[in-house]
Amino acid sequence: MTAATTAPVLISPEQAGSNQIETVLWVKHWTPFLFSFGITRPASFRFRSGEFVMIGLPGEGGGKSILRAYSVASPSFAEELEFYSIKVAEGPLTSRLQKIKPGDQVLLGKKPTGTLVLDALTPGKRLFLIGTGTGLAPWLSVARDPDAYSAYEKIVVCHGVREVAELAYRDLFTKDIFDDPLVGDQARDQLVYYPSVTREAFERQGRITTLIENGQIFRDLGIEASQFDARYDRVMLCGSMAMIKDTAALLETHGMKEGSNAEPGDFVLERAFVG
Ligand code: A2P
Repeated sequence: MTAATTAPVLISPEQAGSNQIETVLWVKHWTPFLFSFGITRPASFRFRSGEFVMIGLPGEGGGKSILRAYSVASPSFAEELEFYSIKVAEGPLTSRLQKIKPGDQVLLGKKPTGTLVLDALTPGKRLFLIGTGTGLAPWLSVARDPDAYSAYEKIVVCHGVREVAELAYRDLFTKDIFDDPLVGDQARDQLVYYPSVTREAFERQGRITTLIENGQIFRDLGIEASQFDARYDRVMLCGSMAMIKDTAALLETHGMKEGSNAEPGDFVLERAFVG
């Protein structure tokens, strides 16, 4: 895991020089606490779908810049870079970042990295992308990448949130992705969007861990086995620490092993970034 990069970091103007300055293209506010934005992508910036990178703002009045890790929400071939963020009123970065407008400048780190990548998993049949809150961000990248559809028969995007309004990108996963020129046809056959809400009435309620433990997710998907099968299922986890810990423990009881870039396995995980 990459816990060391979760907290926002302050860097001096000299260090900030090692980041690239990019331009905000668009901003979309989902709720008072959630927003997305797109920025220009330098030609030299290469990443694998699912990786994260440092994003930040230059210091005010020559002061220190502040950066934190963000999963890139766009797929690796996209012309622009997309990010999905919480807004924290007292957050050292997001209190300012939430006010960005098209034309503003943001800092972009030069070294994308991370384990939520297809390369860190051994071959399988079904890919479960399990995210809570802004932990959906890396799945926006992976599920829009044609390589994911070549590697797996089925891709299941699970998004667990407290309230219905937090189901950002619902339109993408229920309509827009099917018109995507690159993955639309495959998504129609292979993609399942599986949202669940815990603190409000919704068509599907309950924590993702509960839906796994009681077998509901497998019944809903028409999978005969009522649990994960280490031979066929591969899982990526991103979101709250508690969800990751509990789900990883569940996967381990089914004989699944955590993977990494150096040693691919049955599941990989990364904490969603805060602040
Ligand atoms: P709950 O409402 O029951 O706490 P948060 O906003 O705190 O990051 O939570 C996002 C979603 O993750 C919520 O639906 C929350 O459910 C759920 N969640 C929190 N902890 C766990 C856990 N240990 N296992 C599964 N889901 C969890």
